[in-house]
Amino acid sequence: MPKERNVMVDDSSSSRNGGEANSLTSNLENISFAAKSGHSNDANPGRAISRAQYKPEKWMLPEKAEQSLTQLNLAIVGHVDSGKSTLSGRLLHLLGRISQKEMHKYEKEAKLQGKGSFAYAWALDESAEERERGITMTVAVAYFDSKRYHVVVLDSPGHKDFVPNMITGATQADASILVIDASIGSFEAGMDGTKGQTREHAQLIRSFGVDQLIVAVNKMDAVDYSKERFDLIISQLGAFLRSCGFKDSSVSWIPLSAVENQNLVSAPSDFRLFWYLGPNLLDAIDSFQPPTREFSKPLIMPICDVIKSPSQGQVSACGKLEAGAVRSGSKVLVMPSATIATVRSLERDSEACPIGRAGDNIAVSLNGIDGNHVMAGGVLCHPDFPIAFAKHLELKVLVLDGATPILIGSQLEFHIHHAKEAARVARISLLLDSKTGKVVKKAPRCILAKQSAVVEVILQEAVCVEEFSKCKVLGRVFLRTLGRTVAVGIVTRIVEEQQ
Ligand code: GTP
Ligand code: MG
Repeated sequence: MPKERNVMVDDSSSSRNGGEANSLTSNLENISFAAKSGHSNDANPGRAISRAQYKPEKWMLPEKAEQSLTQLNLAIVGHVDSGKSTLSGRLLHLLGRISQKEMHKYEKEAKLQGKGSFAYAWALDESAEERERGITMTVAVAYFDSKRYHVVVLDSPGHKDFVPNMITGATQADASILVIDASIGSFEAGMDGTKGQTREHAQLIRSFGVDQLIVAVNKMDAVDYSKERFDLIISQLGAFLRSCGFKDSSVSWIPLSAVENQNLVSAPSDFRLFWYLGPNLLDAIDSFQPPTREFSKPLIMPICDVIKSPSQGQVSACGKLEAGAVRSGSKVLVMPSATIATVRSLERDSEACPIGRAGDNIAVSLNGIDGNHVMAGGVLCHPDFPIAFAKHLELKVLVLDGATPILIGSQLEFHIHHAKEAARVARISLLLDSKTGKVVKKAPRCILAKQSAVVEVILQEAVCVEEFSKCKVLGRVFLRTLGRTVAVGIVTRIVEEQQ
């Protein structure tokens, strides 16, 4: 069984190399540096030491001689039913991560339930409800090794009701595969501005900082492996991806069929794909640039899941280490309870490991802390570099294309790393030019689609947060309402911190 655990909670961000001129995110980043809020930010006297002054200990840095494969967190995203789970299951099977025996079992069970076509998806859709409905609801995590990478597959749900779960998985991504259903009508449904998830997922992953993308144009069997269809998808979706800030050179397009095993780990055998001369999917994964990691910064690990075993009195925090490193014996500050705990042991891919470093997905077993003080949406950090806990925040936001306007008083769902809170827009201070970041208008009444603005939000409960300029992972937010993401944003100021 390749699968490890399901990630159920909410969202986070990652801190990779910024963006380019046209991107939603890079617009926000430009805005954030171009238009300073004018307030100084020393609401936090207890947090005087700058993260930049931190000196890492020697053990934290990986040694050059360490020959292990680089971990690549790969989010599989895309519209509902495009074949994400089938593609993931098939890849795992082809790469020996699912045995023949297990595969037979899935095929038999799926057939019995009248869901024969979902056999590969069942490797990832494990719950009875997911199998019954034939949709993914939580993010399934699985692993395989390519030539260059230890790949962590994050198979996301495509259904619009589960976008918050998709956000959880995809925010941990270093790179992503956007799966498209090439069949007639289905590609179009995915691109639909109100009902389709293709655009929303593409915008979301770009705003998480993911800038390397494979577009897996799946179900090519359903369109006779037509080059015309493939080219049409490239031209329509390509234009949209460019508008999100993906560079053409960082996007590869692969025609394939998960069901007929065409172009996944070897060159296509179906003659109808003769026109395609590019890499197969696995080779394209190996062509991703290795992610950069913040090994030498103070520890930050947003907590995605908590595993408690009350009988043994043990508690483990799971998540992706975004900065720094931990090993057994390390003291960590658990936020928001502000309690110090000691790391008892670490697990990576269900195996004990001596050190966890930035980029690793790990489970950290903690000593000396009451299990109730460790929660999903919290953060493990370095005791000398506590992160903030606040509910009154100033944000710079960009309202997405096609989204409903944001007004003063709007009630929204606020997503930040793995936390989710109800939020109210208390103030819209400035409307900004979304390209240059210059102030267009003071105190506007609302923010329309494609407009940027500085707003203040007040959350129902405080969250662990940092300003984006200090820590991207803890400073990138998403605002949602009525089941859709309406805006992406960054935290520009913590207006008031909780004690
Ligand atoms: P959600 O997780 O619910 O968003 O769906 P998904 O994207 O994971 O799709 P899933 O893998 O569950 O597949 C949905 C349906 O598409 C199943 O019936 C699959 O058999 C079918 N499917 C997947 N890949 C292909 C393909 O290459 N060709 C054809 N013809 N059908 C496919
Ligand atoms: Mg699925």
